[in-house]
Amino acid sequence: MNILGIDTSCDDTSAAVIVDGHEVLSNVVNSQIRLHHPYGGVVPELASREHVRNIVPVVHEALARANLKIKNLDGVAVTVGPGLIGSLLVGLYYAKALAYVNQIPLVAVNHLEGHILSILLEENAPAFPFVVLTVSGGHTSIFYVKGFGEYKQMGQTLDDAAGEAFDKVAKILGLGYPGGAIIEKMAQAGLKNKIPFPRAYLDPKTFDFSFSGLKTSVSLYVQTWRENKELQNSIQAEDIAASFQEAVIDVLVEKAVRAGKQTGVDSIVVAGGVACNHALRTKLTQAAAKEGLSAFYPRPGYCTDNGAMIGLTGYYRMIRGEQADMSIDVRSRFPVVE
Ligand code: KG4
Ligand code: ZN
Repeated sequence: MNILGIDTSCDDTSAAVIVDGHEVLSNVVNSQIRLHHPYGGVVPELASREHVRNIVPVVHEALARANLKIKNLDGVAVTVGPGLIGSLLVGLYYAKALAYVNQIPLVAVNHLEGHILSILLEENAPAFPFVVLTVSGGHTSIFYVKGFGEYKQMGQTLDDAAGEAFDKVAKILGLGYPGGAIIEKMAQAGLKNKIPFPRAYLDPKTFDFSFSGLKTSVSLYVQTWRENKELQNSIQAEDIAASFQEAVIDVLVEKAVRAGKQTGVDSIVVAGGVACNHALRTKLTQAAAKEGLSAFYPRPGYCTDNGAMIGLTGYYRMIRGEQADMSIDVRSRFPVVE
């Protein structure tokens, strides 16, 4: 069964063709990073306009790389939320038109469910049940995944997402957008224990997160550091990046491993853009191993937003008969578990 997966939830226009929910024939992503870079974050109006420009060539490229025609498709899966309304609308209305004109079934997909299941695009994937830490620019949550469509949310961020914290700290340091990869690179040349930034573990029993205090703490520190030449001699920007990154990682690792232990699963998965971070991967793999747990990470192209995870999720929804009709609308907020 050939499924076209489309995602335009934020600042990437992506389309992929997936066979039987696992074989990726193509996965095309048109990133808008350069467009939003000067603004230090995604500008929603620019994002939707760019999606309008990109959606047709991106889908055509996905079909061409898969060596398929529209008539070979058995379904069109599209993200309907959560995300930026203007961006989501472009993907959904394009998918609706494609499905209607060509009489192909349409499937509505939750973007976050795509991230949760993205590890199943890899050959080396864990068996159910497992725990997933989803860490992206818009979300930070921990889910217990019993099977397809069977999710229990164990915790989530009460304020900023982990990726958002990376992006904001990069902006504070004047490094541009998106911040995650830039901070990671800079942190490699810094000392992670140089500045004891706060770790918000919250209540010891909770799996919720909070990163806004850390962001404020870094902001105040950088203000003082910029005005103090002596401090600049002993502390480099690289040390600030490394110390901030370590504070985020410590909390993510503690909560994810504790969730794994408490639920009795064998495997922990990390998904979403922040899962690209090597320091996070290394620390989590080691901490999980100490508790007898295995850690799994999708390849970077399946961690950041992509159409492949939407095609995969759409496939499993479609074979359960969950087809969408033409009245379906986008949802800026769309919890995975309602
Ligand atoms: O999943 P994603 O592509 O989009 C959302 O759904 O939000 O995640 C993007 C986020 C950005 O905040 C970006 O800074 C972060 O993932 N990110 C990273 C790294 N690469 C991307 N954060 C930390 N380290 C990285 N290497
Ligand atoms: Zn995402």
